[in-house]
Amino acid sequence: TRKIIIDTDPGQDDAVAILLALASPEEVEVLGITAVAGNVPLPLTQRNARIVCELAGRKDIPVFAGCDAPLHRKLVTAEHVHGKTGLDGPQLPDPTMPLQDRHGVDFIIETLRSHAPGTVTLCPLGPLTNIATAFRRAPDIVDRVQQIVLMGGAYFEVGNITPAAEFNIYVDPQAADIVFKSGAEITVMPLDLTHKALTTADRVEAFRAMGTHVGKMVAEWTDFFERFDKEKYGSEGAPLHDPCVIAYLIRPNLFAGRFVNVEIETGSELTLGMTVADWWGVTDRAPNATFMGSVDAAGFFDLLTDRIARL
Ligand code: BDR
Ligand code: CA
Repeated sequence: TRKIIIDTDPGQDDAVAILLALASPEEVEVLGITAVAGNVPLPLTQRNARIVCELAGRKDIPVFAGCDAPLHRKLVTAEHVHGKTGLDGPQLPDPTMPLQDRHGVDFIIETLRSHAPGTVTLCPLGPLTNIATAFRRAPDIVDRVQQIVLMGGAYFEVGNITPAAEFNIYVDPQAADIVFKSGAEITVMPLDLTHKALTTADRVEAFRAMGTHVGKMVAEWTDFFERFDKEKYGSEGAPLHDPCVIAYLIRPNLFAGRFVNVEIETGSELTLGMTVADWWGVTDRAPNATFMGSVDAAGFFDLLTDRIARL
């Protein structure tokens, strides 16, 4: 069982990722969830994280609020994709489980220090502000991280928030730069990959057909979340970005990629937040991340429906 910390800005796809993790206790143990400002501001993302835990019947999962703004820039949000609450779609009750008192960054630092080195994996599903802040404040924890598996970046098909950049990296490029230069073992699920795992009508129907409350919620979230991609890209469904991170921890063989050098653009306004991946090895810059390029989409959705049905 992998011990993980989910760092997140829910977000319908973040919500499905959290559910997938909570439905898979044999493979992953969720030590805690740290919320970050991203899709919507922090008061909403920490609240949404608690709503999702409660939906899964897991009020025992500690949820922490982390950073409320990127390191050096003003927060850019994505209500145009996720709706005003960040979790628009079905009506869900207000959470009753408490928010933890400790700051999310302190939780990340203390958890890495109190566990044996190489036994805690970080799963960032939003901007990398919390992770970078933890690494800056406590450089000793970097070597203790087992792996960072994150959703972010884009290279071949490039951006969804600017022509060059993916949302999570664009919101806090300086944080991303710190994380990618940290020396930690990093696996990246970029847009190029997540756009290969689209929620077709049949796949959404499979969630609804479960006949469970959670299945219905997932179907309604996906329906809401799909509008954006269907209108924007004319695609038959939407990519379920963030669940790819958790699916990778459960079934790594569903994914394939390359260990390459990835640099983050932090200077140019035009291409800010671009993840420049040296896919063809045309530089002598040392590889620092495994950039995933392909996914067995049918296998991914089989896994997702199998697990969501357990909740
Ligand atoms: C990423 O941005 C957010 O809108 C999603 O939750 C996902 O983490 C995709 O670019
Ligand atoms: Ca997210």
